[in-house]
Amino acid sequence: MLPSRKPRYTAVKTGVVYNVAIIWVLLISISTKTVKGRIEDGGKMVNSHPTISYRAVNCRKHSAIVTEFGAKGDGKTLNTKAFKSAIRHLSRIAPDGGAQLIIPRGRWLTGSFSLISHFTLYLHKDAVLLASQDEKDWPILAPLPSYGKGRDAPAGRYQSLIFGTNLTDVIITGANGTIDGQGAIWWKKYRNNELNETRPYMIELMFSNGVQISDLTLLNSPNWNVHPIYCRDVIIQGLTILAPTHSANTDGIDPDSCSNVLIENNYIVSGDDCIAIKSGWDEYGNRFNMPTQHVIIRHLTCISPTSATIALGSEMSGGIQDIRAEHITAIDTESAVRIKSSPGRGAFVKDIFVRKMTMKTMKYVFWMTGYYGAHPDPYYNPRALPTIEGINYGDMIAENVSMPGYLEGIKGDVFKGICMSNITIGLAREPKEMLWNCTNVEGVMSRVKPRACGLLREDNRVVDCPFPKDRLPIEEVELKVCLAPFVA
Ligand SMILES: *[C@@H]1O[C@H](CO)[C@@H](O)[C@H](O)[C@H]1NC(C)=O
Ligand SMILES: *[C@@H]1O[C@H](CO)[C@@H](O)[C@H](O)[C@H]1NC(C)=O
Ligand SMILES: *[C@@H]1O[C@H](CO)[C@@H](O)[C@H](O)[C@H]1NC(C)=O
Ligand SMILES: *[C@@H]1O[C@H](CO)[C@@H](O)[C@H](O)[C@H]1NC(C)=O
Ligand SMILES: *[C@@H]1O[C@H](CO)[C@@H](O)[C@H](O)[C@H]1NC(C)=O
Ligand SMILES: *[C@@H]1O[C@H](CO)[C@@H](O)[C@H](O)[C@H]1NC(C)=O
Repeated sequence: MLPSRKPRYTAVKTGVVYNVAIIWVLLISISTKTVKGRIEDGGKMVNSHPTISYRAVNCRKHSAIVTEFGAKGDGKTLNTKAFKSAIRHLSRIAPDGGAQLIIPRGRWLTGSFSLISHFTLYLHKDAVLLASQDEKDWPILAPLPSYGKGRDAPAGRYQSLIFGTNLTDVIITGANGTIDGQGAIWWKKYRNNELNETRPYMIELMFSNGVQISDLTLLNSPNWNVHPIYCRDVIIQGLTILAPTHSANTDGIDPDSCSNVLIENNYIVSGDDCIAIKSGWDEYGNRFNMPTQHVIIRHLTCISPTSATIALGSEMSGGIQDIRAEHITAIDTESAVRIKSSPGRGAFVKDIFVRKMTMKTMKYVFWMTGYYGAHPDPYYNPRALPTIEGINYGDMIAENVSMPGYLEGIKGDVFKGICMSNITIGLAREPKEMLWNCTNVEGVMSRVKPRACGLLREDNRVVDCPFPKDRLPIEEVELKVCLAPFVA
C-alpha cells in the first residue's frame, strides 16, 4: 500500500535519479541491437547506461548512487552523513514507486544509519560496507520492550549498523557484496567488561512488514548478524555469514517475535548459534506477548563448534510455535537442535518440526534444558513455567557424535510430545559413557540408533514423526527481476 500523500520531486538532482521504468522501455526498444563492452554482474547496456539485474520482492522506480551524495569508497572517509543524506533524499520520492540506493565497488566506512519504507539498499559485488569502530558513530537506543534490559549490559543498546523501524517493504540485497562489522574490537571490549551498552547488531529491523535480506556476505558482526524483531513477512536468503568460531555472540539469523518467515539457502560459520529463534525475556516477554511463529528454515549449512545449528530460546517468553526446518547440514557443531528455557520464562515452545538433517562431528545431536537460567533481573516469576510440547525430529543422519542426546525437562513440568524417528547416529571414537541422559521428558521413538532413553516410548509399530504438509503464505511470494544502474 502506497501512502496517499503526493510524492514531491523538488529535491531531485540531475544525474542522481534514474527512472528504472524508462530504462525498461529503452531496454526493450534496443534489445535487437548488439552492444559492445564488458559489464559485470550479468549487466546489460541500455542506451549507453549499463544496468545490472537482481531478484527482489519489489522493484523500484527511482535510483540513486551513494557517490552522488559525497560518499568516498576509500576505506578511510567516514560516510555516515552521505548515507543518511542519500536516504533522506530518496525518502521524498520512495512513496512514488519505491527507491533504491546503489553502493558501487569500493570500501565504504560508515556508522549506523536507518532505512525507509519502499526502499532497497543494493550492494555491488565488489562493494564493502565497513562498520565504524568508534562508539560515537553508533546512537544509543532504549532496551527492546520484550527484553526489558540489554543483553550485554542492563542500560541501552547501540543501534545496529543497518537499522529500520516501523517500515513497510524494505530490501537489503546485492550481488553478494560485503558488510564487514569489524567486530574484533567489540568482542574484546565485551569480554573485558568495558561496555555500558549492548553491542550493536549488523542488521536489525523492528516493527516492519515485507522484509527481504538476501545475496550478501556478512563478516565479523560485533554481535548478532541479522535480527528481525516484531516483523511480519520476512525473507532471508542467499546469505554467507562468517565470523571466527570463538567470537562472542555472533549468531547468524535471530528471528524474534516475528511471523511468516522464510530463511533459505544460507551458509553460516559462527561463534554462536547459526539460527536462534527467540521471543522476549521473562516478565518483559510475557507482558509484550508476541510469539515467533510460522517459520521455515531450509537449505542451511552451519559450522558452529561452540553452539547450535538451530536454537530455540533461551529468550522465548512470547512463545515459539510452528517452526519447520529441513534440508540442513551441520559440520563441527556443538548441537543440532537446542531448546533452552527456564522457570521464569513462561510461554511455550511447541509444534517444532525438523527433518532431513545431515551432521558430522557433533558434541550432541539433541540438547534441551529447562534450567538454562540467564535472567534479565531478579524480578521474574519462578512459577512462570514454560510449556515445551510437540517437538518432532525425523530422517537424520549424524557421524562422529560424542553424545546423542541430553534432554532435561523441569521437575513438575515435563517436556511432552517429543518424537524421534529414523535417526542414525554414528559415535565418535571415544563417546560419552552415558549416550542419552533424559530427565522429566516424555515422548516416542521409532528406528533411533543408538536406541534413545526409556522415557521416549518405543512401540512395535513404525512411527514417522509428523511434518506439516501445507505451505505458508511466505512460500508463495515470487521474486521479480529488477534493474539497477551499473556504476564502475
Ligand atoms: C512503531 O510501532 C510500534 C508498534 O506499533 C509503536 O509502539 C511505536 O511507537 C512505533 N514507533 C515509531 C517510531 O513510530
Ligand atoms: C552469491 O554466491 C553464491 C554462492 O557462492 C552463488 O551461488 C550465487 O550465485 C551468488 N549470487 C550472486 C547474485 O552473485
Ligand atoms: C562506562 O561507564 C563508566 C562509569 O560511568 C565510564 O567510566 C566509562 O567511560 C564508560 N565506558 C564507555 C565505553 O562508555
Ligand atoms: C571427530 O570429532 C573429533 C572432535 O570431537 C575430531 O577431532 C575428529 O577429527 C573427528 N573425526 C572425523 C573423522 O571427522
Ligand atoms: C531415513 O532417513 C534417511 C536420512 O535422511 C533417508 O535417506 C531415508 O530415506 C529415511 N528412511 C525412510 C524410510 O524414510
Ligand atoms: C544426567 O543429567 C542430570 C540432569 O542434568 C544430571 O544431574 C546427571 O548428573 C547426568 N548424569 C550423567 C551420568 O551425566
